[in-house]
Amino acid sequence: MHLLRQAFIFLLSLACFGTMQASANELSAVEQKAATCFVCHGDKGKGNDPQFPSLAAQQSVYIVNQLNAFKSGERKNPAMQAKASNLTAEDINNYGAYFAVQQAAKAGGDPALVQQGKSKATVCLGCHGASGEGNGQYPRLAGQHPDYLAKQLTAYKDGSRINGAMQAIAGNLSEEEIKALAAFFGSL
Ligand code: HEC
Ligand code: HEC
Repeated sequence: MHLLRQAFIFLLSLACFGTMQASANELSAVEQKAATCFVCHGDKGKGNDPQFPSLAAQQSVYIVNQLNAFKSGERKNPAMQAKASNLTAEDINNYGAYFAVQQAAKAGGDPALVQQGKSKATVCLGCHGASGEGNGQYPRLAGQHPDYLAKQLTAYKDGSRINGAMQAIAGNLSEEEIKALAAFFGSL
């Protein structure tokens, strides 16, 4: 009898553990869908890849704007235009909300360049936030891979990425300034 009760308790605890696991593993519907984004953007969007920007802790408004820009073809990138073309307005809003609350990535950057970039970054902080954390339509730059940031600044500078304010700003930056600013924001 004693053994039987122990066996019963053991089975019961196994069953409880099972359901606990199930609920812990029960990813939100959005996260399940977002798994298709993790392939390139990193787990939960926390990437650290020169090619694929981190989406974790990015501003939701900015994410929504960019997905719409890829969808309309205003922002050009073959992989993202293909991805965004299938998204509904609801998907786009959900992704914005989901990635905005994930833990931010931290890319780091060459220390000497970081110092140089820091001295030039004051002009950026009014829009991009005192710590590069972004604000609404102004993207988070903090922790983003420096090579990705430099690529985007170069794209604004050569006009292959369209945005009035950023084209004017990047148009005045030298290649060295771009590298330094990218290293600084990547290090935050
Ligand atoms: C095949 C790889 C790939 C997949 C899958 C992918 N992306 Fe991207 N994504 C990219 C690349 C590459 C860029 C950067 C494009 C550029 O350099 O302008 C990008 C950029 C973005 C940006 C702009 C970020 C910024 O800082 O400006 C957003 C937002 C985004 N992706 C969201 C998503 C979402 C949401 C999904 C899933 C539905 C997704 N991506 C799936 C490759 C991918
Ligand atoms: C007047 C406001 C303003 C100022 C000042 C400003 N930015 Fe921006 N920045 C923006 C906006 C708005 C966007 C998003 C534009 C878009 O939709 O493409 C942006 C986008 C960017 C991006 C692309 C980020 C990504 O994830 O793709 C980079 C990189 C960037 N800014 C760097 C800088 C740097 C470096 C400075 C300072 C030299 C700076 N910005 C100053 C408004 C500003």
